[in-house]
This record gives sequence, structure tokens and C-alpha cells, in this order.
Amino acid sequence: MPALVLLGAQWGDEGKGKATDLLGGSVDYVVRYQGGNNAGHTVVVGDQKYALHLLPSGILSPGCTPVIGNGVVVDPSVLLSELSGLNERGVDTSKLLISGNAHVITPYNVTVDKVTERFLGKRKIGTTGRGIGPTYADKINRVGIRVQDLYDESILTQKVEAALDVKNQLLTKLYNRRAIAVDQVVEELLGYAEQIKPYVTDTVLVLNQALEEDKVVLFEGGQGTLLDIDHGTYPFVTSSNPTAGGACTGAGVGPTKISRVIGILKAYTTRVGAGPFPTELFDEDGEALRRIGGERGVTTGRDRRCGWFDAVIARYATRVNGLTDFFLTKLDVLTGWEQIPVCVAYEIDGKRVEELPYSQTDFHHAKPVYETLPGWSEDITKAKSFSDLPKNAQNYVKALEEMSGAPISAIGVGPGRDETIEINSFL
Ligand code: GDP
Ligand code: IMO
Ligand code: MG
Repeated sequence: MPALVLLGAQWGDEGKGKATDLLGGSVDYVVRYQGGNNAGHTVVVGDQKYALHLLPSGILSPGCTPVIGNGVVVDPSVLLSELSGLNERGVDTSKLLISGNAHVITPYNVTVDKVTERFLGKRKIGTTGRGIGPTYADKINRVGIRVQDLYDESILTQKVEAALDVKNQLLTKLYNRRAIAVDQVVEELLGYAEQIKPYVTDTVLVLNQALEEDKVVLFEGGQGTLLDIDHGTYPFVTSSNPTAGGACTGAGVGPTKISRVIGILKAYTTRVGAGPFPTELFDEDGEALRRIGGERGVTTGRDRRCGWFDAVIARYATRVNGLTDFFLTKLDVLTGWEQIPVCVAYEIDGKRVEELPYSQTDFHHAKPVYETLPGWSEDITKAKSFSDLPKNAQNYVKALEEMSGAPISAIGVGPGRDETIEINSFL
């Protein structure tokens, strides 16, 4: 059973970085399959804290080969600065592999992301401004630049010309900005090419050969299920497929190879950027979750919107990803509440609804129906097994498991690698 997918079951920031890092010591490859440096994954190892954006969290485990798959969008300047930042801290990054088919986030994609958001005004998505959407748009429009294009100057120039043709019209005529010069972009991209070259390879071949040899491969999702371009709260989503199917297309591995799909699930809910969020709190409970949970974006520094656990969303994540397990994170953050509300269904236009509505309008009107569970006040950060948890914490976990539709196989009780209760082994 060598291939596992680990992904966000909510709106991102569930603690995927910590979970991946935890498994990183026992797997051979950790693969990012979508997204780019819009991700912000915090990993705490001993007294060291790492913030990773583009690199797979497995980069911190010496025995593990980190892979950036074909479905990822790569900003070369961010890649190189992330690598040198880790090297300065003594992390060996030499094993990194990057797909030659991954698309490149160019400087004009970043510009277009920012000006589009400004142009949208009140209707903006609240993107991370990293050029993610425009780069995927170029990919789908077949005017994208791939990593392999950096090694053929003539092809690169032609492709940048094609991509800028329409964009410069938009920038100058609609957005009132200066045109971007083709040769400047080409020169900048060529400047990165040689530094990246040692990592670039046919990752699809490498990963499939590894699976044939029974090596353990972990696919690490960025963002989360509700930010998925197909299955999320469109249009308030990211421009890729963080859901389990994305691991197959974004890494070139067939679905028959995937043996386990682990959903990372926060014990409450957060969201960054715009879009509907039924259990969002605007009172002191929301403020307390933000403060105690340290809910501030790793990438943008924005405060995260906070709310109670939403079982409707968790059930949906189980369904669209075919989840086999949950990894419940941040249970420790809920310590101290006498009562903890959990959203078990929605009320939409006076009717109780048990499952996520497909209609955007209905979801915008969804009001949470809460059940309240008794809380606990004991410190749980030292708990090593399920039975170490106070009875009410155990009951909270069991209730969430029942409502969410897949077994909770691990529980996070603190940010550190060792602050985890393992219930069922993932490997
Ligand atoms: P990711 O984007 O899914 O990797 O998550 P982020 O790193 O953006 O946000 C999760 C935050 O919660 C990070 O600061 C982690 O260090 C922290 N964290 C992860 N698991 C736990 C946990 O079980 N308890 C606590 N208190 N913090 C956690
Ligand atoms: P990790 O991997 C939370 C959100 C942005 C915005 C929307 C679109 O750390 O969980 P984009 O720049 O992707 O076009 O922005 O998606 N978003 C995230 N929210 N965690 C993330 O990543 C996110 N990556 C993007 O805030 O609402
Ligand atoms: Mg994050």
C-alpha cells in the first residue's frame, strides 16, 4: 500500500504541513501535486519553526525525496529563495526533483493577479497575489510557460511573446498600466534556468518507477477541498484541484495506485479571503479561536476568519475525496470552552439540509444548525494516547468522527512533531 494522499478537508490551513512532516520520516517521496507558493505550511521541529510555501513539507526529512509535480505552478524566484533560506539553516535540499512539465509563474502573471483583484473591487476573491490564477489560466489557454521551456531560448521567447500579446493590450487599454517588455521577462527567466536545472527531471517516470519498487509515496495537497476549482465554493476558490483526484493528474500517477486518502481536519473552521462561511463567528469566541489558534496567514499575514466545526463540510470532504481517514488537528485550541457548538446541518430558507447544497445561492443563505457538546478544561498537550484525553475531549472527537464519515486516525494536540496522538497507523 505505497501511495497516500494527504489533503485539506476544509478551506486550507488545517495543519497539512505538520501532518506531512510527521509522516515524512517514514516515506520515500513527498510530492506536491497542485497549487504553488499560495500555500503556507508551518512545520515545527523541536525549537525550529519553518514556513514553507512552494516546497513539499517532506524536504525537512533527510531520507525523503521531495518532488514538485507537473500540476504545480512554480515561481522560480520564490523557489530559489526558499531553497537558499533552508540551506542557510542547514537543511539539505539537494534531493529535490521538479517536473519539466510544471508551469512557471512569470512576473506578468503576478502583475495580472494583482491588477485583476484591484479591478474586481468589492467582488474580489482575496487571492494571495502570487500569480496562481493567471498562471493556471495561461496553462488552460495553452499559452503557458513550462519549466522545460527555460532551456530553449528561442521557444521561450516565442511563448512569452504569445502570452504577452493579449495581456499587454489588457494592461495598457483596460487597466491603464504600462506594457511589459518581452525581452525583460525572457532575460529574467533565463537568469533562473541554470540554477534550477539540476532538479528538473521526468517526475512522472521517477514516481511510477518508485511505486513499482514498492517505495512509499505521499502526495501533499496545498489549500483544501472547499478551495478546489471544481468542488469548492466557486468562484471563491483557488485555480487548481487540491482534492484527491488532483494527485493523479498533478503527478501522473493512476488512481489504482492510491491506497489511502487522509483528510486533514481542524477541530474548528478557518478561512482566508472572501467567500461564504456558514459557521463564521464575529464575536469574542471567534476572536479567542484566532488568538489561541494563532490564526494568521503564513503567506499573506492576513487574520484568518474563524468559526465552529462544520460537519456538513467534513462529510462533503469525505465524499468528494473518498477519504479513508481523518487527521484531526488543533484539538488543544478548544481547551477551556465550557460548551462547544458543532454545526450538524444547515437551515436554508426555513428548511433543514443535511448535505452541502450544490447551489451557490443556497450555500450563501445557509445558516448553521448547532448541537452543543460539553467542553473540557484540562491541558491536553501532553496526551500521548486517546485514553489520556479527558472524557469530554474523547466524546468531542468521537462525535466529530461519527458526523464526518471516516475514522479519525490521529489527533494533533500542539504544533510540534511529537504533539500528536496516533490512533491507527497510516503506513
Ligand atoms: P497548512 O497550510 O495546512 O500546512 O497549515 P498552516 O501551517 O497554514 O496552519 C496551521 C497552524 O497550526 C500552524 O501554525 C501549525 O504549526 C499549527 N498546528 C498544526 N497542528 C496543530 C495542533 O494540533 N495544535 C496546535 N496548537 N497547532 C497546530
Ligand atoms: P494552504 O496550503 C488558505 C485562498 C486565498 C483566496 C483563494 C484564491 O496554506 O492551506 P489564490 O492566490 O490561490 O488564487 O487565492 O484561495 N488560499 C488559501 N487559503 N490556505 C491556503 O493554502 C490558501 N491558498 C490560497 O486566500 O481566498
Ligand atoms: Mg497554510
